[in-house]
This record gives sequence, C-alpha cells and structure tokens, in this order.
Amino acid sequence: MTKAEIGLIGLGVMGSGLALNMAEKGYPVAVYNRTSARTGEFFEGAGDLRGNLVPCASLKELVAQIRPPRPILLMVQAGKAVDEQIKALRELLSEDDIIIDGGNANFRDTMRRFDELDGSGITFVGMGVSGGAVGARHGPSIMVGGERAAYTRLEPLLTAIAARYRGEPCSAWLGEGGAGHFVKTLHNGIEYADMQMIAEIYGILRDGFGMKAGAIGDIFGRWNGGRLDSYLVGITAEVLATADPATGRPLVDMILDRAGQKGTGRWAAVEAQMMGVPATVIESAVAARSLSAEKTMRVGAASAYGGRTAPAAREPEPAFVDDLELALFAGKIVAYAQGFSVMDEASCGFRWNLPLATIARIWRAGCIIRSQFLDRLALAYDADPDAAHLLLNRDFAAMMSEAHASLRRVVAHAALAGLPVPALSAALGYFDAFRQARGTANLIQGQRDYFGAHGFERTDAEGLHHGPWDSSRAEG
Ligand code: 6PG
Repeated sequence: MTKAEIGLIGLGVMGSGLALNMAEKGYPVAVYNRTSARTGEFFEGAGDLRGNLVPCASLKELVAQIRPPRPILLMVQAGKAVDEQIKALRELLSEDDIIIDGGNANFRDTMRRFDELDGSGITFVGMGVSGGAVGARHGPSIMVGGERAAYTRLEPLLTAIAARYRGEPCSAWLGEGGAGHFVKTLHNGIEYADMQMIAEIYGILRDGFGMKAGAIGDIFGRWNGGRLDSYLVGITAEVLATADPATGRPLVDMILDRAGQKGTGRWAAVEAQMMGVPATVIESAVAARSLSAEKTMRVGAASAYGGRTAPAAREPEPAFVDDLELALFAGKIVAYAQGFSVMDEASCGFRWNLPLATIARIWRAGCIIRSQFLDRLALAYDADPDAAHLLLNRDFAAMMSEAHASLRRVVAHAALAGLPVPALSAALGYFDAFRQARGTANLIQGQRDYFGAHGFERTDAEGLHHGPWDSSRAEG
C-alpha cells in the first residue's frame, strides 16, 4: 500500500471519527492508539474504509508509515497527554513535519507548546475542532491557529473533511499561535450560554406553567423553523420528545439535574475577565452549571427557603410563548455580541488579527452552535469588519430593538415567579447598561475618591479631581 498522507494518534470518539472521515475522503491515514486493542477494534469496525487505514502498533511504526513531510494529528486528552505525545514524537520526527493538536486545549498551553517547539524544525498547529462525534465523522467545523504556511499545506485535507455551509467549507486559518484554540474556547463559552438560556426557557414552561416535556419539545420544534433555527434548539426538541425506554416516561424527567463541565466554558469566562471584557451571559452560564453540580446543597436550600409559587394552572398564552421565543433570541444576540467582543479584544492583545466574519462563517455548519443566525452575524462583520460592537451594527440593532421588550417581560415574569433565569437576566442587565448614556459609575468614582483618594474626572473640566470629603468624620 502507498504511504499514509497523515498520522492520527488517539482513537477516542473524536479521533476515530476524524480518521474515518479522512479515509472516506480518500486520504490514507496511519492510526495509533496507546492501547493497541482499541486500534484493532477500530480497524475491524472500519469496513470498506480499511483500505485507507494503516493500523500501527507503535509511534515508530506510525511515523514510518507516513509520507514525509508528515502531518500528525493528536486527538488525545487535552493537557498532560498532549505534552507526552509531543515529547515522544520529537525524537522520531524530522524537519518540516507537522504536529497538530486537535483537542480542546487551553490556548495558553498551545502558546507554550509553540515556544517549546520553536527551533526544533517541527511545525506546530493548534486546531479547534467542533461538532461532537457526528461532526468528526461527517464534517466538523475546524479552527486553525499557527503558521499560515502550515495551514496552506493542510488546507486540501482539512477542507475535504470539514462541514460545508451552502458549499463553503467550514475550515479556516484564524491566526498565529493559540488563535485556533482560543476561538474554540469562545465557541464553547457561547455554547454554554446558548444551552443555559434554552434550559431557562424550558424551566419557565416546566415549573412556571407545569407543562409536560413533550409539549415543551413541540414549542422548541416550532421555533427551530424560525429565527432560532439552530442545532441546539433542534436537539432540544428531540431530547424533550424522547421517552425513557426503562419507564416510558419522558427521558428528560429521569435525568439528574446536575451537569458536568470539562473546562472550556470556564476558560472563556476567565479570559474575558482577564481582558476586562464583559461576557456576563457566558459567565452566568458557567456559574449556573457549577451551581447545578451542588445538588445536595440546593435540596437543602429548597427546604430552608420553601418553594416558589405554584405553577399557573393554565397553558401560557400564545403571546407569552412568542415572548419566550424573542427573549431567547435577544439573549442570544447579547451572548454572541459579548463573545465576539472578547475575540475582538484578544485579537488586538495577542496580535492575531482574528477574522471575525470568517469565524462566524465557519460556525454556520458542523459545530455545536451552528445556526442561521451566524449567517447574519457573518454578514454584519462583512459589512463592517472593524465594528466596535455587534449591538451597534444596524441589522443587529434592529433585531435587538424588536426583541428586548420580550426579554424584559420574560425576565420580570421569572423573577416574580421565583424561577431562575441567570443567563437571560445577565443579558438584559448588560443590554440596559450598554445603552445607558449616563450610567451610575459617577457615584462609584465618588466612593473611590472618598476612601482612597483615587481622583475622578469631572463632566465640566479636564484632569483628575478630588472631592471635599471629610473622611475622618465618616470613620469616627
Ligand atoms: C464541540 C463541543 C465539544 C464538547 C466539549 C464541551 O464543539 O464539539 O464543545 O468540544 O462538547 O467537551 O464539554 P463540556 O460541556 O463538558 O465542557
């Protein structure tokens, strides 16, 4: 058999899906997994695609099976395992070979790995891949960071395996160094925000109106044909419609209300904070997931504080269901505006020059947050690549002007009913602060000057000023 075009290490869900995807697109792939039983099992299950797969029992064999210069894709667990594989590969690779980390790496680790490999002759690429198992197998969204020339070498393969949106491949080079993994991190932060806001709307219908899962699923299913059309809303409808094979009840009612997290959403919130960019919807979503994990404490608090008011003994009015749809849409606009602001800031800070329109474009298919909405977002950044903020874009301002009254009614309804909507209310709070020409930080400046003589700017004069405070009097 001819030599493989690429090597792939790590045959977990994502790795095996990508290997089969590449083999199917006509790229012979040498594959290796730390436990060789998995390699055998994978190969046996590959059916007709076996002709394009070369199972290898060692790293040395893997390297020998690839045509130089060799691209090798790591699909191992983010963190220590990546460093171990790079260390082992360094001994075996030659000048111009490329190591691609396709896992959910922290972009700061990715930047460190670029530094560590600098001068070694080996090229490193940090590549975000989104789409879960099905995406990996049939077309993910691919976010690449590293040298542009490395992407050019990989481009035919990556565009062949990537998802397509109306024929356009969802793969792109986004910038040097950690750019690809940073963008994947923000993708996941936004994913958390989308999922949390959907869950909040579900909570209002379940706990505020006592609706059954199936009926709520029907509503999400309807919305999926309109402005909320997206993968996450579509799967929400399906999850809600699914019966538990063991009990026959709605499966969602049998699932514990405690969600895990691997860390990427949290990194998005942390990086936003580090840069001083408000990403309150993402932050709320991450925090809500953390609070979900505190099941025992929540059960205790429910008995300490009592329940909420009982669900309304009626179905929601059609007008309120429309409000819920628009509220979710408004929350989504704010979440994406915040996420893109974080990327915009990082783009300057790390000198990546992130192509925001391209990012929106490669998220339109393949990835978990794929939606129609991203097409409008891409158009907004096409029209104004240096837009200061998405909420100032004319198209988005028009959408938000139409939707924010619904968000307000829904958040108010939930607050009065004692239903938690942390991400939706974060979106509303941010929006109201964002559009407030004269805010309340004048008082904060007064306080800071009072207790710390930090000085404040005046509305009517240049420079830094101090108030005539008698601090000693307040302390006494
Ligand atoms: C994707 C997903 C994927 C995954 C993460 C998030 O884009 O395909 O984001 O990377 O779902 O593991 O998982 P957590 O919810 O565990 O953080």
